[in-house]
Amino acid sequence: MVTLSCIKADIGGMVGHSSSHPDILNLGREELEQAKRRGLLIDYHVSHCGDDMFLIMTHDRGENNTEVHKLAWDTFVKGTELAKKLKLYGAGQDLLADAFSGNIRGAGPGSAEMEIEERPSEPIIVFMADKTSAGAFNLPLYKMFADPFNTPGLVIGEPLHQGFTFEIQDVQQHMQIRLNSPDEIYDMLVFIGAPNRYAVKRVVNRLTNEVGAVSSTDKLSLIAGRYVGKDDPTMIVRCQGNFPAVGEVLEPFTTPWIVEGWMRGSHHGPLMPVGLADAHPSRFDGPPRLVALGFQVADGKLIGPNDMFDDPGFDHVRDKANQIADFLRLHGPFEPHRLPLEEMEYTTMPAVAAKLADRWTPLEEAQPARA
Ligand code: F6R
Ligand code: MG
Ligand code: MG
Repeated sequence: MVTLSCIKADIGGMVGHSSSHPDILNLGREELEQAKRRGLLIDYHVSHCGDDMFLIMTHDRGENNTEVHKLAWDTFVKGTELAKKLKLYGAGQDLLADAFSGNIRGAGPGSAEMEIEERPSEPIIVFMADKTSAGAFNLPLYKMFADPFNTPGLVIGEPLHQGFTFEIQDVQQHMQIRLNSPDEIYDMLVFIGAPNRYAVKRVVNRLTNEVGAVSSTDKLSLIAGRYVGKDDPTMIVRCQGNFPAVGEVLEPFTTPWIVEGWMRGSHHGPLMPVGLADAHPSRFDGPPRLVALGFQVADGKLIGPNDMFDDPGFDHVRDKANQIADFLRLHGPFEPHRLPLEEMEYTTMPAVAAKLADRWTPLEEAQPARA
């Protein structure tokens, strides 16, 4: 068995929240290299999307392993020290816990992990997002694993034909449910259609019980109880054979879906699939971005990556995303560009409401304005 762990955090941006400093990424590489030498990791790859650093690691310790989580935490802490020296923006932004307490979950960073029996050939894609939230992968995961118009393998691929089980988390109530596709898709869509509250954590092949996808569902605002930036989630998807083909896994991103995030984490905007060279959101701090790194896993080694969205086949998606961005921007501070009020609770909204509380009068008592 091999465990794939992707643990990520924003520990400082350059310039502003737009990208990462190469020294921080190199520090990450050095820390993980040492862990590989002392046998904790089999392999690693450090990358970034925007101001978030992603530690992609393989090992044989299983999910939620304290040592692996501590390695990620310590790497983020050391990276934060360097980010502070460089006066990078928002240094240590996602390290919400005062100290590591055994598991990275609930401490700020996001994590997606799966323990797998490595197949004779094991293609995987690691997705890295910036300027959006946990739950942003609900729609793409539905397309990949439940929609035959996206994934013909569901119809004509024998090992996919039984469908997939979706593990869905209620991120507010800390509950989870498993629902089966295709028989329960109408029930499932009631929940995953509300990605702010419900997030697909895991997808499993119903025939073989093998995990096919796992995403990070950590919600920064719920952990901190105030606005502290968006979650900028990650996701690992296994491809081919008993899972959707590489092209079926990427196909959902031919539409720039509207997601939460963008400027101040408080706007709806299009999710733009980009190659690494374009993974530095700038326009209105966005639009939200997604990078896909493809690897072949070989005895736990990460062979790759291939920069999957670095493909002219996605140029028109980026054009469309820019058109949608222009149109949404015209709305300025109006919904539905700006998030609905109930999702602005972690911004200035409660303070403005409190300041004006005693200036509201019941309609019946209101005096007509005098000329
Ligand atoms: C969104 C994001 C940025 C910041 C914005 C303000 O996730 O990171 O849009 O919210 O640049 O940043 P502060 O409040 O740090 O000045
Ligand atoms: Mg940031
Ligand atoms: Mg970010």
